[in-house]
Amino acid sequence: MRKPDQIKPHKGKLGILLPGMGAVGTTFIAGVLLARRGLGEPIGSLTQMDTIRLGKRTDKRQPKVNEFVDLAPLADLVFGGWDIFPENAYEAAVHAAVLESKHLDPIKDELSAIVPMKAAFDPSYVKRLHGTHVKTYADKAEAVEQLRTDIREFKEKNGCDRVVCVWTGSTEIHILPTPVHESVKAFEEGLKNNDPSISNSQLYAWACLKEGVAYANASPNLSQDFPAADELAREMQVPLAGKDLKTGQTWMKTVLAPGIKAKSLGLAGWFSTNILGNRDGEVLDDPDNFKTKEHSKLSVLDSILQPEQNPTLYGNIHHKVRIEYYPPRGDQKEGWDNLDIVGWLGYPMQIKVNFLCRDSILAAPLVLDIALFLDLAKRSGFQGVQEWMSFFFKSPLHAAEVKPEHDLFVQMMKLKNTLRWMMDEDVISHLGHEYYD
Ligand SMILES: NC(=O)c1ccc[n+]([C@@H]2O[C@H](COP(=O)([O-])OP(=O)(O)OC[C@H]3O[C@@H](n4cnc5c(N)ncnc54)[C@H](O)[C@@H]3O)[C@@H](O)[C@H]2O)c1
Repeated sequence: MRKPDQIKPHKGKLGILLPGMGAVGTTFIAGVLLARRGLGEPIGSLTQMDTIRLGKRTDKRQPKVNEFVDLAPLADLVFGGWDIFPENAYEAAVHAAVLESKHLDPIKDELSAIVPMKAAFDPSYVKRLHGTHVKTYADKAEAVEQLRTDIREFKEKNGCDRVVCVWTGSTEIHILPTPVHESVKAFEEGLKNNDPSISNSQLYAWACLKEGVAYANASPNLSQDFPAADELAREMQVPLAGKDLKTGQTWMKTVLAPGIKAKSLGLAGWFSTNILGNRDGEVLDDPDNFKTKEHSKLSVLDSILQPEQNPTLYGNIHHKVRIEYYPPRGDQKEGWDNLDIVGWLGYPMQIKVNFLCRDSILAAPLVLDIALFLDLAKRSGFQGVQEWMSFFFKSPLHAAEVKPEHDLFVQMMKLKNTLRWMMDEDVISHLGHEYYD
């Protein structure tokens, strides 16, 4: 990644396209509409709520993040998307039952005007859902062309200067990269041949890349994290980010695990279970779809604790993750974690976490930050994987030769230092010797 010579200033409208306008998508849109009318605070959003320290501690320079870097203001955002159900964003938000009518009623007209475009959807990748609002196409190459037309028409109709896209669609079945994902040429052949390892979300990612639209993935599917997409992203100078939003239990894991490691305590086991009753929970009730999520959730501990560096403390960890679909809870997930930790001379101890969270309330601000930073990255001339955006994700994209960075606090430092570096400010090492010389 080269330091930008110049960051193109934002101007005009920024379109945010969401394939999948369900609980996360509509909670995000509704929150922005409310915030810009002064009817709600965008709590949980780093770009809107957090500050960034610049220079020495004695300089006392601490602007808000969105005053330090040139991000699109909330007033300039325009929303669109696709779904396999025809409900508009108001109806979908009512169905998702995340927000109460006191929040949805004042913005009913604005939300109702956001109607999803027909989806590119083959049900074999999400077996539990049966939507009717879907495109017909002869092959996957044609599906990509139809999505490209949708993007262009959305941009023109809404007078957008720029567009970014965040996949907020359902978790798809677990797919490993195959030779079709190796190069642009192989992938384009695969599209024409309806290759089964090209899923729905990959069609959206490909259409975005072809249109020069920055793309992020909020779910754990294989969507844009393969060599062919990276090659096309570089060719088209498009930034990519992902994947799987770091919200409830995994967020907690990336807070607690670095704490255990920092104290040189051992870990014998970590059992995590959840009950969740929204549509995402229903989709994840299918073992093939859960496998995709499980893969994303399990990878976190290994990379934080590095068992190969310290087998005595972390060489034999029993790590289990369960998600149970339990309709009465809707979007209000309850998670239980049991950690068996080990102290001085091997004496065992336990930590229990009972987290009563609201899934989409935690996810929505991340979608906002991701969209705004993707746009910044694109205006800065960045392309391909944006590792500095790891902070937002459970399975952060990374260069092939390095491990992903999962520690939330390292991710935060990486993100803020990248912003300082982009803006010609000193990166902060936390050495602090200058105060004592
Ligand atoms: N809520 C969280 O905290 C959280 C955290 C991490 C990741 N995620 C991921 O975000 C995604 C969305 O979660 P959600 O709770 O909004 O789920 P949801 O089921 O409410 O919404 C997903 C929407 O995607 C639509 N969809 C599925 N396939 C599609 C396609 N091919 N094209 C267009 N639309 C399609 C569905 O019809 C549905 O409306 C899931 O993959 C979930 O795992 C959510």
